[in-house]
Parts: sequence; C-alpha cells; structure tokens
Amino acid sequence: MSSIDLAGQYRSEFPIFEKLTYINSCSQGALAVSVKAAFTTYLTTLEEQGSAWNDWVTQQELVRGLTAQLLNAKPEEIALTTSASAGVNSLATSLDFSGKRNKIVTTENEFPTMGQIWHAQESRGAKVVHIENRADLTVDTEALINEIDEETLLVAITHVCYRNGARTDIQPIIEAAHKMGALVILDTYQTIGAISIDVSEIDADFIVGGFLKYMIAVPGVGFLYAREKSTNHLIPTSTGWFAARDLFAMDIHSYDPAKEARRFETGTPNVPPLYPASAALEFMLKVGVKNIESYVAQIHDELRSGIIEIGGNVVTPGGKNQHGALLAVASLDEHAHVAALEGLGIVTSSRGGNVRISPHFYNNQDDVAKVVAGFAKTKEFLRK
Ligand SMILES: Cc1ncc(COP(=O)(O)O)c(C=O)c1O
Repeated sequence: MSSIDLAGQYRSEFPIFEKLTYINSCSQGALAVSVKAAFTTYLTTLEEQGSAWNDWVTQQELVRGLTAQLLNAKPEEIALTTSASAGVNSLATSLDFSGKRNKIVTTENEFPTMGQIWHAQESRGAKVVHIENRADLTVDTEALINEIDEETLLVAITHVCYRNGARTDIQPIIEAAHKMGALVILDTYQTIGAISIDVSEIDADFIVGGFLKYMIAVPGVGFLYAREKSTNHLIPTSTGWFAARDLFAMDIHSYDPAKEARRFETGTPNVPPLYPASAALEFMLKVGVKNIESYVAQIHDELRSGIIEIGGNVVTPGGKNQHGALLAVASLDEHAHVAALEGLGIVTSSRGGNVRISPHFYNNQDDVAKVVAGFAKTKEFLRK
C-alpha cells in the first residue's frame, strides 16, 4: 500500500461505501458529506435572501480561484462554463479558418464532443485530420507530430481516453505544435483530479475539463483554461453579459469582451452546482492530486493483475505514463456485464466494448478484492 493510506483517511466521508463497491469515478465521483451539504448552502441563500446575487457571484469567483489553484494558473486564465463542450465551442468561435492555416490535428481517442465540435467548423473552412492509434491504443505520437505543419491552426488532444484509458504522451506533441506556430487544446476531463496538472509544466494553450468525475462534484460546471501569453488575441463570437469587460455596463450597442479568460463565458452562471463544486475543490486540494496519483497507481496495478489472473483482457496500456486511473476490460456485452456487476453491488460503467473500472482515493484493497471476485463471477462476459 502507498505511504499515505488515503482511503483510510477519507473513505468514511463518502456514505456510498456503506452500501456499494463504487468504482466509477470516470463517470461520476462519489458524493462527500461536505459536497452534499454545499447544496443546502445554495438553497439557504434562496430561502433567506431571495435574490442573493452577491453570494452567487462570489461563489463563481471562489470556484474560479480554486480552479486556478488546482492548475497552478492565474484566476484570470480560467473561464467557468456549464460544460466542457461549452468552453470548447466558445473557443471554436474565436478561431479563423478562412486562411491557409485552417487545419485541426486530432486523435482517435477523443471524447465525442472534441470530434464533433471540430467537424462542425468544417462549414467555416476547417480541415480536420484524425491520427490513427498504435496497435496498443495509444496515440501515435510520431505520426501526429508529422501531421503538424504550417497549415495547422490547432492540435486537439485528450489526456486520457474515456473509452480505453490510454494516456497521451502530451509533452512532445505540445512542443512540436508550438514549434510550428499551432495552438494546443488538452482535454483533461479524464485526468483532472486523478493526475496532477500544473500549467507551469504543461505548456498547453487551452485546457478543458469539468468537476463531476475525479473532481467529486456534480454536473453543470466546466472550465476552460486559456494561457494568458498565447491566447489573449483570440476573441470569441459567442458571448453574453457575463463575458463583458464591465458586467454592469449594460451596453447593447457594442461588444466589449473581458480581457481575461472570462471572455469565453456567456450568460448567467449555473449557480446551484457552483456550491458543491467549491466544496469539492476544497476537498481535493486538501487531499492533494499528487498524493491521489501515486495512491491510485497502486490500486490500478492491483486491479490489473487481479483481472488478468482470472483471464480478463485489460485493453488499457500498462506501461509507465501510458494510463491514468481508468482501467478498461474487454467485454462481449459491456452493458449486460456492467448490469451483472451491479447485481453484485459493484458499480462500474461501459464504453466502446469495454467495462470501465475507475478507482479513486476513496477506494481500497477491499474494493480491489470485491471487483476481482465480481469479474470472476461474471467470467462469461470476458472478451479475450
Ligand atoms: C474526455 C472527456 N471529455 C469531455 C467530456 C464531457 O464533456 P461535457 O462537459 O461537455 O459533457 C467527458 C465526459 O464524459 C470526457 O470523458
């Protein structure tokens, strides 16, 4: 076991473990008592103040600041959106595809959003190129770098694939893109909260994600980090009063967006989930993502060996830095497989022919034993 027993320290704050073997944080994080209580705080503002705009806007700024702290970024570099898609769409409207530099280089491991939004820009002149994966499902770094040329406007890559758990070797790709004058957007939805993301180490121009998975919050809040020194020239054409330089100018005769990343926002924030988001961010900062990363790496390896031992085919690459928390197991019928495991009190999820097992800091070796036993009992679904 890792030097810090995180589950030993924090598991009791997640009541779901009294009832279930919950190991599905790639889909939705477990609910902590403090995160649940934060919902009530929002309701109390309504009950006691009615229109508590000051509290609500303060909450938005609190989440922005905590997100910045998590990423080691400046609050001015963070836009808060209602989903990851909303942030990426807003960014897309700021790009000009009418010139020679109109190419978007992306992978086969993207979440649907990341493919669909870029293909939607084809009517505006964008050309989208997907790079085939290597046989082990990882992104073919060399092939991707070879595709980046002087026509490339943007390189759009996922950090960890939501389907198969393969982790992209991002640093050489980011360096190659910058050398060619292209921008990079990194989708961290499957890593934020599970793998440490520090913008002083990761030089991506944009980082997108949200809070409901390994960040243990709820749907409704996403973020878009926009690196100040490389993205300030990009002005979105989707907007709203919360993106205005002066929110209270109330000017309907001009477009005067904020200089900060806030320019990628639009209208009234999604206030209710901001409360659980701030509680979750505070929790995660207390636990420390670096601690989580090393703790979960061990749980991941134990699950992997257990599943392989009973004859399972773990499709997630096993090499160092080739995966995150997520472990995908090939299944003959992933939906029925997940349902059968659920019947045994084990919560996982399914995507693209695989059952996804996604441990987090609150999972322990008892969960590992239960999951492996559950897979042994549902062996008829294993795909070799
Ligand atoms: C890698 C990745 N990107 C994006 C998303 C979701 O984006 P959105 O917040 O737009 O629903 C998910 C969620 O399932 C994801 O796993």
